[in-house]
Amino acid sequence: NETNRRDFIGYSFAAVAAVGGAAALVGMKQAWDPLPSVLAGGFTTVDLSTIKAGEPETFVWRGKPVFVLKKTSDMDQSKRDLIVGSDRFIIAIGLCTHLGCIPAWKKDVWKCACHGGEYNASAKNIFGPPPRPLDVPPFKLEGTKVVLGESSPEYKKI
Ligand code: FES
Repeated sequence: NETNRRDFIGYSFAAVAAVGGAAALVGMKQAWDPLPSVLAGGFTTVDLSTIKAGEPETFVWRGKPVFVLKKTSDMDQSKRDLIVGSDRFIIAIGLCTHLGCIPAWKKDVWKCACHGGEYNASAKNIFGPPPRPLDVPPFKLEGTKVVLGESSPEYKKI
């Protein structure tokens, strides 16, 4: 009869709406899910063999800038140096330890434009309000590659 047919149509619509809704949710969930690299711990790999001495490069690791500097022979050596063969590198999170601005490299010094803080080539605070050196991210050395996001026993934070 008429009532039953209307109910059937009503149920059919409800079923289609439910399936459509589920598909839409799956689509949304995929959009919200982090990328596989983030799920794996958010690693960033840097090939040290591509870095030129005295010209630090900035990489992004977990949304933060990370400075990688290959020291020139006239730069001071430090306990923070990562020694690879005969080369020395500094790896540091590029956020000022005062209030978090990103310092810029000028004449062998990282200068923070926000309040004048300065860091030397070993990422040590040498002037202005920064209370400590730039932080060192966890990383692991694999040949000439550095994997940011993994701790290495051969490189200690100081
Ligand atoms: Fe760098 Fe203040 S944030 S000196």
